[in-house]
Amino acid sequence: MSVSIKSEREIELMREAGKILFEVHEELGKIIKPGITTLDIDKLGRKLIEGYGCTPSFLGYNGYPASICVSVNDEVVHGIPSKKHILREGDIVSLDAGVIYKGYHSDAARTYGVGKISEDAARLIDVTKQCFFEGIKYAREGCHLHEISEAIGNYAESFGYGVVRDLVGHGVGSALHEDPQVPNFKQETRGMRLKAGMTLAIEPMINAGQYNVRWLDDEWTVVTADGSLSAHYENTVLITDGEPEILSLR
Ligand code: MF3
Ligand code: CO
Repeated sequence: MSVSIKSEREIELMREAGKILFEVHEELGKIIKPGITTLDIDKLGRKLIEGYGCTPSFLGYNGYPASICVSVNDEVVHGIPSKKHILREGDIVSLDAGVIYKGYHSDAARTYGVGKISEDAARLIDVTKQCFFEGIKYAREGCHLHEISEAIGNYAESFGYGVVRDLVGHGVGSALHEDPQVPNFKQETRGMRLKAGMTLAIEPMINAGQYNVRWLDDEWTVVTADGSLSAHYENTVLITDGEPEILSLR
């Protein structure tokens, strides 16, 4: 496993990519309401990303057919936008987006409620976001990678939620997916020692029910095996010798 340490120049480009991606998510968040289609989200996302002079990281990646992964309710990640899929009041929807700016990726995801949602759904969304913040307490030089994993997993499990095991976070930089893998649950080993200049996409995927997932016949969409709701929250994070820098947040 080779984990790259980014140079100051690379970090600057990733900061810019992150700022742009933050703005893209802010704009996409504003259009989430009953009656829009998941394809509407993808179309606006692509337009925004290209409007910033960036390329969507996901479009064409391993054949993925869209710019934004839009995953509704029991869809965990990698939902494929469709004009036939209309959002309804009470749904929850995860938007995962990536941008490439001058050769460098930033990757981030948010989960929103559509109109008024149940208390249980709202709690799942809040806890999933907080999982990320629990994890990044250990995203600093001198900590070990799996301290992040354990903090995320323990927090989610304290609510009785299932932490997805079949998909994990990852290094990010000149490639969308770099080493190391960043699991969201306790590992047998402590993992590598973190160093300033590493950039990680930390992305808890949390199910209201069991952790098991399956793939739909489209070969992309990941859904919960038990049909329970799932939420996703992700940012691109720079490890420093002090507080982590969350590149895709303001
Ligand atoms: N954030 C997702 C990931 O890290 C995005 C990949 S979707 C794909 O896996 F379409 F690009 F594959
Ligand atoms: Co990712």
